[in-house]
Amino acid sequence: MKIGLLGHGVVGSGVRKIIDEKLTDETKNLEITRILVKDTSEITDVRMTTDVNDILLDPSIDVVVECMGGIEPARKYALEALEHGKHFVTSNKKMFASSILELQECAERNHVSLHYEATCGGGIPWIANIDRCKRVDTIDSLKGIFNGTTNYILSRMYHENQDFVSMLKEAQDLGYAEKDPTDDIDGYDIRYKTMISILKAFGKRVNLEDIPMFGIRYIDASDLKYCKENGYVVKMIGRAERNGDVVSSSVMPMLVKKDDVFAFIPLNFNAIASNSKTLGKAVYIGQGAGSLPTAHAVVQDIIDIEKSQSMEMQFEDGMINNENVEGIYYIRSKNMEVFQDIMDGEVTKKVRLLEVLDRMKKANDKEAFIAEVEA
Ligand SMILES: NC(=O)c1ccc[n+]([C@@H]2O[C@H](COP(=O)([O-])OP(=O)(O)OC[C@H]3O[C@@H](n4cnc5c(N)ncnc54)[C@H](OP(=O)(O)O)[C@@H]3O)[C@@H](O)[C@H]2O)c1
Repeated sequence: MKIGLLGHGVVGSGVRKIIDEKLTDETKNLEITRILVKDTSEITDVRMTTDVNDILLDPSIDVVVECMGGIEPARKYALEALEHGKHFVTSNKKMFASSILELQECAERNHVSLHYEATCGGGIPWIANIDRCKRVDTIDSLKGIFNGTTNYILSRMYHENQDFVSMLKEAQDLGYAEKDPTDDIDGYDIRYKTMISILKAFGKRVNLEDIPMFGIRYIDASDLKYCKENGYVVKMIGRAERNGDVVSSSVMPMLVKKDDVFAFIPLNFNAIASNSKTLGKAVYIGQGAGSLPTAHAVVQDIIDIEKSQSMEMQFEDGMINNENVEGIYYIRSKNMEVFQDIMDGEVTKKVRLLEVLDRMKKANDKEAFIAEVEA
């Protein structure tokens, strides 16, 4: 099976390494024949090119693997690859989550498959495990530490009394966080992954913007002090539940009990839990990012294509409806008077999420910190 690789950064170089090493019988059948790089100065291998048409128009290439990141030109190349009858694999959650409908239609029209295991949970086989679970069972809810950068920052802050700014800098120095860390720390990255998980687990295609989102940009020592004094650990969580046709979902910090399995997820690891009727709660833990773990997930997708095992692509339109979601929320804002009648100390009484979202808007405090408190 011949592969064209778009992008040779952290993930792309890992994919090249695993496939070039041919360590297993399954990978021996795979061959990367062309690699797209951005600039001629980056060419270090005879297979490298700066002309994407060397890949998209090459009839011998069966699979195009995209590890460039960003929406454009990744989306354009994806559609062109599918139109040219090539199977398509991506690790790019931002492009995939925002273009799923047109990618799905294009893949179906051209009778090729679209694979995206590496978009969620890095090296954890999360998407594949959803598929396995769904062969027997119905998934009712999912919840995950989907982002290694925020888990790293929160772990170091919580366990070593470090401050947010220096831990963010450290995460950037270690290559976990991008130079512009917005996607990680404000929750966008987790929202893409939660949306893709909803797609896969519930078969519903929902609008990204309908998933309410809060991040950790303004977490401070007083929030961590509250956690420690009250037996909680703070984690960034994407969650979704399904009740019949109704899907509820949010992305925000959560105060999890200190004996909860999520409380023990260290540093840049990810953990994702699903709840289904016969399997019950299942938790998948592993490297949520990194060159080889993420590349592992990409190569698994390529092997599935070789074995003609397509990823399910039957989704219907769904809507996020948080009308019936209730919880207890920790809130710190300079405008606490807006929340006064729903507070019980530093946390709310049991209230509707929509009520809290409404009051957060009224408080108009961009430095406020909010977290759901695990029941
Ligand atoms: N890193 C991880 O652990 C991880 C885990 C899961 C998913 N992902 C996702 O995987 C994707 C790739 O991530 P990454 O960490 O590998 O990023 P990266 O290290 O920045 O690699 C991306 C590579 O693609 C190249 N590229 C970008 N636009 C290009 C273009 N138009 N033509 C040719 N080459 C182009 C970049 O070149 P320049 O550097 O010259 O711009 C860079 O070499 C992203 O969508 C990311 O969200 C990453």
